[in-house]
Amino acid sequence: MYDLDMKRLPRHVAIIMDGNGRWARQKLRTRIFGHEKGVGAVRKIVSRCREIGIPYLTLYAFSKENWNRPAREVKALWSLLERFLKAELPEMIEKQIRFLHLGDVEGIPASVLQILRQAEEQTAGFGRLVLSLALNYGGRQEILRAVQLLAEDVRNGRAIPSDLSGDVFSRYLYTEGYPDPDLVIRTGGEIRVSNFLLWQIAYAELYFTEILWPDFAESDFMEALVEFQNRERRFGRTGEQVKSAVPDRSAPGAGASRATRGSRARS
Ligand code: FPP
Repeated sequence: MYDLDMKRLPRHVAIIMDGNGRWARQKLRTRIFGHEKGVGAVRKIVSRCREIGIPYLTLYAFSKENWNRPAREVKALWSLLERFLKAELPEMIEKQIRFLHLGDVEGIPASVLQILRQAEEQTAGFGRLVLSLALNYGGRQEILRAVQLLAEDVRNGRAIPSDLSGDVFSRYLYTEGYPDPDLVIRTGGEIRVSNFLLWQIAYAELYFTEILWPDFAESDFMEALVEFQNRERRFGRTGEQVKSAVPDRSAPGAGASRATRGSRARS
């Protein structure tokens, strides 16, 4: 049904799930109701990624900027995320999905942190799909944190400034060991990246759709993948060079084949 080449799937898809509030407003319901409906779309897309063999899926679920929303909505979002993680953990284990949190732990409610840690620990041995939730996450903040960690390493003699390369710098990010996203999808009609994985998406294909997140179905996801495969990824080369079959995965920053984190202190 979809003209998809299973051998050229993106290794890492990152999604900005936008439009829950507008979806709810259209239905004369509360914004929270929209977020709750968004959970259904999350489940569908996670399961489709696992089914077709996309190894990394990263979802932007709570940004640093989201703290500016009305307190009631912020509280409801954290409570929803906590319920989601508690409810889905057994299935993640059953389906061998590795779960990881990307973002700052400071500020996250204690009960959410507890389930985040539990989910990370209990799924640590799996690798069929690495599912990451960006929570209390900001791309600029992540880069600043990486610079701080690197500066400390230089001060302690563990790093030499002249040895710094893109690959070395990537190891200081939350996404240490991940391949960079090949495809970023944003639902909800806005055409921007909103502080999401700023370093990592340097060469990603960007896909924007008007569809509001709760309505984003498996078929819409498959369409995004088809569009991704129809694009020519040049990484600075000419179209002729690309056609002479230099593989896509020579992309700068294409990292390890699975998450191998843990060597850096995370906070
Ligand atoms: C954007 O909609 C959505 C978010 C703030 C992210 C949160 C997503 C969910 C809670 C969906 C479920 C996810 C998980 C991982 C359980 P918006 O409020 O910005 O929509 P609007 O632009 O229409 O106002």
